[in-house]
Amino acid sequence: MHVLSADQFDQTQLESYFAQADTLRIQLTDLGMRSKLASRYKGRNLCSLFYEPSTRTRISFETAAVKFGMGVVSTENAEAFSSAAKGETLEDTIRVLNEYDFDIIVLRHHETGAAARAAAVSEKATIINAGDGRGQHPTQALLDLYTIHREVGRVDKITVALGTDLLHSRTIRSLIYLLSSYADNHLILVSPKELKISTDVKAYLKKRKVSYEETADLEVALKKADVVYWNRIQKERFKGDIPSQTFIITKEHLHLLKPQASIMNPLPRIDEITVDVDEDPRAAYFRQAGNGLYIRMALISAILDARPDYA
Ligand code: CP
Repeated sequence: MHVLSADQFDQTQLESYFAQADTLRIQLTDLGMRSKLASRYKGRNLCSLFYEPSTRTRISFETAAVKFGMGVVSTENAEAFSSAAKGETLEDTIRVLNEYDFDIIVLRHHETGAAARAAAVSEKATIINAGDGRGQHPTQALLDLYTIHREVGRVDKITVALGTDLLHSRTIRSLIYLLSSYADNHLILVSPKELKISTDVKAYLKKRKVSYEETADLEVALKKADVVYWNRIQKERFKGDIPSQTFIITKEHLHLLKPQASIMNPLPRIDEITVDVDEDPRAAYFRQAGNGLYIRMALISAILDARPDYA
């Protein structure tokens, strides 16, 4: 019922979301179909409850719901302006929202495990984890895998270079979980030594027999990769000094990349990819963000269609 972790999805579900997202992408170009879609889930309601900042995740979920004719209610900075500021627990907040007839609550929270805590007390509404601390961001992983499927043409037998703050990035953790369920993928984990991937993720890779290497050699990684997945230093996760970015992809690196490689970034981009890379056709990060709308519509559709009690 709840969407908490990227590894809860099987290949059949993922393929079905990709196909549904492709269909929605085409349907939304047609005015008649847009009107039809706008009544598909009339009467259903989505609450977006964000305790951390967001541009893409929140707006694409809310837009997805609007395009289906759903009611959308959201808090403006739940950390500051919900009763969390007075000391209310997340669990009590979710219990209360369950009294207001929401089908879906999209939750972003700074604490790892917050989405699972919310799900444990959410009896009516489906909780979608929109990022929980250093934990997971499963719907980002869905749109990332969908982007690889569209840009590269397959999601298996690929070499993916992932950088740079592997220690704190929940998007990288969730994407690694999804890539691990496909055959013959090879991961190149690129980071400075203080931001290396956690031991639990390495244990997961070993258990799933996924081939990987760790390196601080950016140029070698760029030469080998079919997909370069680059993320910012997650400065909000540091208690002390924030290291400066040392793995910056610039226009000067582009000749190293394979002609069909894809450069991805979950965004926001800070300084890890310079703006002069954007004009290269292999820079897929804005298309990637766009894919989030269709895959989140597909996910909402799958959730609501599986709830006959509310049909
Ligand atoms: N990629 C991502 O989660 O972006 P936002 O923080 O803007 O939602």
